[in-house]
Amino acid sequence: MAIHIDERAGLFHLQGKDVSYVMQVVDGYPVHLYWGKKLRADGNLQDMPGLPKHRNLDQMPQEYPQYGSGDFRSPAYQVQLEDGSRITELVYQGYRIIPGKPRLEGLPATYAEADDEAETLEITLADAYSGLRVTLLYTVFKDSNAIARSARLINSGSGQLKLLRALSMSVDMDIPDYEAVYLAGAWGREAHLQRRPIGPGGTRIESRRGMSGHQLNPFLALAEPGADEDRGEVYGFSFVYSGNFLAQAEVDSMRKVRVQVGINPFDFCWLLMPGESFQTPETVMVYSDNGLGGMSRTYHKLYRTRLCRGVYRDQVRPILVNNWEATYFQFTAGKLVSIAKAGAELGIELFVLDDGWFGKRNDDTTSLGDWVVNRDKLPDGLEGLAERINRLGLKFGIWVEPEMVSPDSDLYRAHPDWCLHVEGRRRTLARTQLVLDMSRPDVREHIYGMLSAIFRSVPVAYVKWDMNRSLTEIGSAAAPPERQGEIAHRHMLGVYELMERLTGEFPHILFESCSSGGGRFDPGMLYYMPQTWTSDNTDAVERLKIQYGTSLVYPASAIGAHVSAVPNHQVGRVTPLKMRGDVAMSGNFGYELDLTKFTDEEKEEVKRQVALYKSIRPIVQQGELYRLLSPFEGNETAWMFVTEDRSEALLFYFKVLAEPHMPKKRLRLKGLDPQRDYAVEGFGTFGGDRLMHAGLAFQVPPGDHFSLVVRLRDAAGGKG
Ligand code: DGJ
Repeated sequence: MAIHIDERAGLFHLQGKDVSYVMQVVDGYPVHLYWGKKLRADGNLQDMPGLPKHRNLDQMPQEYPQYGSGDFRSPAYQVQLEDGSRITELVYQGYRIIPGKPRLEGLPATYAEADDEAETLEITLADAYSGLRVTLLYTVFKDSNAIARSARLINSGSGQLKLLRALSMSVDMDIPDYEAVYLAGAWGREAHLQRRPIGPGGTRIESRRGMSGHQLNPFLALAEPGADEDRGEVYGFSFVYSGNFLAQAEVDSMRKVRVQVGINPFDFCWLLMPGESFQTPETVMVYSDNGLGGMSRTYHKLYRTRLCRGVYRDQVRPILVNNWEATYFQFTAGKLVSIAKAGAELGIELFVLDDGWFGKRNDDTTSLGDWVVNRDKLPDGLEGLAERINRLGLKFGIWVEPEMVSPDSDLYRAHPDWCLHVEGRRRTLARTQLVLDMSRPDVREHIYGMLSAIFRSVPVAYVKWDMNRSLTEIGSAAAPPERQGEIAHRHMLGVYELMERLTGEFPHILFESCSSGGGRFDPGMLYYMPQTWTSDNTDAVERLKIQYGTSLVYPASAIGAHVSAVPNHQVGRVTPLKMRGDVAMSGNFGYELDLTKFTDEEKEEVKRQVALYKSIRPIVQQGELYRLLSPFEGNETAWMFVTEDRSEALLFYFKVLAEPHMPKKRLRLKGLDPQRDYAVEGFGTFGGDRLMHAGLAFQVPPGDHFSLVVRLRDAAGGKG
């Protein structure tokens, strides 16, 4: 890793593990020259092909383009001056190199633990007329092919500036034929993989929901035509933010592609007073020349080790049982304890009490905000219940939805102006609830007080932090009219501040974020909470797609995956317990059903699953993922997890529907060491080369919903 600078030529060359990123100051503008496979540092960067023939702005490949002086593509930023004009011109001022990676105040971001892990380049630009200064931040990581980019906009003038658009990054590249790859979906069908030409008019994905959302993940990749899991160039853009976002790729008339990611400018307006600055969230940009698989592994490692934080970052996660699908709102302490007791007998480690334990919450119409235990349901309080659970040998976890308030709650009756709303307008309900105005310090303080009191008095080992609706009527009673356009982002910053405070103060608690399943499965959340409930859809067949798609960016340690009852509550499908277990064991494993209802035979199967997962979870949660067969392309799915030293691996294979008269299935494995021999459980001992090139063959028996988990170990017992 290094940042090489040729001051005379105005050249900046950022080198990561196998990646180079090159810029040059041309006519005062930071121009993009190259991003791809690593280049030598010793000065072969003159006359790079990226430089345009004509130096007009509309053809210049730029790093942070402006609006209004001849570049007709999308600008990276736009600022309104007091005189009403919206045209600025940023000119290069200088640069600075910082060892390591500075924090982005108040925002989630990747980090370096030591100064020699990363290096950060700051490039400063200024518009003399308005006093606007912009600092572009670029961090390269020594052991990664990721580059983190963000921008800081500073008002160093004497007049007010209004930020109308302040994206995190912009880059212009010569890849017009590349295809856009992204994740789209809905509640219960999150992260479905999409791939299509960028096309004339471009590809644009976004959220205007005040949250990242089920519909589109804040992630976009551009893949070379024909690039697959293992081969081909891929450029990934992942936005470390949980609110409104925009990610777009635009092809211009000179066949350049402009990619931009940032806070969605839609309904965004930020007043920047003299002396103030605005830091954008960051975009993590990954280059891979070994396909989508290579890109995913880069994201997984960086996000698992340098985005997630806390004591659980490097620890294997407990196997949990959650009572939601077992009881929904209707439970007694006795019922909960009976589920936990059954769990203890099966080897489960953590019991999670989901929604319905507080206020008068017997359905979803009431009590959010009243974080006081319901003594009708739990006469001995949370303390009493937790003690009984702990006595069974299980840890105790609890569900909360801190960002919300029910109109039918003591909190709302006392503070009707504490929710997001616009005076004189309807307050739109969703799931019979409103969103608390987290831009307000008094609201955050109140919620902090209630939750921290619980975390202090009850032995809580785990918290499921839910968030079950999008934002509407985004306005704050505490902000003046000219600042209402800031509320969506200020709300998000407030949510982050509350999460920072609570996760910081209670580091022993394992936090899992959730938003009606995967409605906020984004890197912003992972900074505070190292795992996310991936989807409310727990059907094993549906989960193949959801987990496959989610794995494009996010590591298995983050992907909450539970075995639930059949017929499945979301789709009514009946799948075997074995397949449900094998799918869930491909992520962060647990159960979400009434364990007391299992037959003895089923209990034996669950015991086997729990024991198996305990022995394989370090490989799943900390290993490297190789995707073999995609559920989006057919009836079969397969993936592997391989330890970093390649001494152990796991193969997962799934076939949804049986087919008649099939030959043996041959699967070519990936990620193994060709020089080593592997003991393949149930098959024999084979060379890594043979397993990867010739493959492993097995007969799929008749019957739908077949699944297989095979463990591979270095036959010599070697560890690398
Ligand atoms: C939505 C979550 O995704 C579910 O798992 C469950 O916690 C419910 N909320 C509870 O209301």
